[in-house]
Amino acid sequence: MICLTTTGGSPEEAIDSVRSNRQWIDLFELRLDRWELLEESALRRAAELLRTLEPRIPFVLTLRRSVDGGGYAGPEEERQERLRQALLLLSPDWIDLEDEVLETAGGLTLFEEAKRREVAVIRSVHDFGGTPEDLGERLERLEAAPGDVAKYAVTTGGTADLLLLHAAAEEARRRDPAGSRILLGMGTLGTVSRLLPGAFGSLWSYASPPGERLGAPGQLTPRELVERFAFREAAAGAPLFAVLGNPVLHSGSPAYHNRRFREEHLEAAYLAFPADDIEATMELFDRLALRGVSVTIPHKEAVLAYLDEREPSVEALGAANTLTRTGAQRWRGTNTDVPGFLAPLREERTELSGSRALVIGAGGAARAVVYALFEEGTEVTIANRTVSRGEALLRSLGVRGRVLGLDAAPLREEQFDLIVQTTSVGMDGESEPVPHLPISGESVVYDIIYTPPETPLILRARAAGATVITGDRMFRAQAAEQFSLFRPLAGESPKPL
Ligand code: ATR
Repeated sequence: MICLTTTGGSPEEAIDSVRSNRQWIDLFELRLDRWELLEESALRRAAELLRTLEPRIPFVLTLRRSVDGGGYAGPEEERQERLRQALLLLSPDWIDLEDEVLETAGGLTLFEEAKRREVAVIRSVHDFGGTPEDLGERLERLEAAPGDVAKYAVTTGGTADLLLLHAAAEEARRRDPAGSRILLGMGTLGTVSRLLPGAFGSLWSYASPPGERLGAPGQLTPRELVERFAFREAAAGAPLFAVLGNPVLHSGSPAYHNRRFREEHLEAAYLAFPADDIEATMELFDRLALRGVSVTIPHKEAVLAYLDEREPSVEALGAANTLTRTGAQRWRGTNTDVPGFLAPLREERTELSGSRALVIGAGGAARAVVYALFEEGTEVTIANRTVSRGEALLRSLGVRGRVLGLDAAPLREEQFDLIVQTTSVGMDGESEPVPHLPISGESVVYDIIYTPPETPLILRARAAGATVITGDRMFRAQAAEQFSLFRPLAGESPKPL
């Protein structure tokens, strides 16, 4: 289930956000601590507004203290008094009360009041310091204390913390399969616990309305969860896929693959998996039974140690951008950057064999490009800011070629049949790595940058009458190659791995 955390500064804004997100949510958390004026009159207005929600949507009542990441910094007695009034006026389905507060006499009185009104109590703990090593025991203690739902929110400082969270969830499930709990990892590296709440033993995932103000660190919008990250399909137990990277939340891959799965009526969910630690990540992939993974920066090289099968380009490049499951803890590695780079050139019927290409840049992306061009029999010149890096690239691929600095004289005079731009220069929409490079109408100019869609180099090439290939075409082509590898692994009920 998806729970919208209202971030609005008034009852009106809060209920408006519920209304505009209702098609994606199952419940909401009315966050009184976000209101600018928390008075009885505001609670009365909220009660009226809640009555206008038709059909009714279940909700959690929360007045979060600033020490727990909320906006309430006033006296505790007053907070409890407001909560008592709100219980009476708003008739929530749940009330969120902090574990620590429930240990006090005031907290206990609130608890009893909630029970009298048949409001379920979420007994919560928020840890902004990290993920405690003994999370399993802490959760056990929390669940043994009175309450209807145990909520433990920790900060995920690294992927190993997510593994701890998953282990605590599994332990709790074994101990009490019927227990109601919410376990989540706050922060970007905890994203997977928000995309797959069921796998972490949680009743629901919290999401924020679109805009600047998040309900908590790492929250996504309800619409993103449902549309970009296939939340419903994942919750229904569909086979799982993901893009692994860091950062990766803005990757175009989830939107692309989930759209393709839906178009082809295949049961599958494709997630974003931000991670900083490859060993913990590979273990999580096994625990969560992921079937296919797109790999992006900075993990393309590190995944190699976990592959049981590698296709030749993976071996040659020392990098894989696609993992497909072949068994428990078994993966095959593929590199779709190579065919993805070549596909738009084929569409443009570019003659590669025997032609002269200039590759600008000598980083990870240039590697795949240079490899692909050599395989096609193209004569390659590399132009790079750091010449030694270009030379090292050729050496490591075991191929011969020319390497120039960006200011080298030949780059002012020579004509190339193909110019491929692989550096990040141009993402600002203003600069070109080699501004004085001559471009003729006979050249093909290929920029692998896809934001912005048209870099200054592409605009200049277009003006010169050259054939241009923009980075979005390479992105789509490599994603299409990946999709054809993922397709056979989707659509059936999950196999035990
Ligand atoms: P990627 O894996 O995306 O290719 P990378 O390995 O960091 O990223 O490589 C970045 C490439 O862009 C390199 O060729 C880099 O040049 P250096 O090898 O000299 O570092 C190039 N690059 C990045 N910023 C640049 C700039 N401001 N001007 C020129 N080249 C730049």
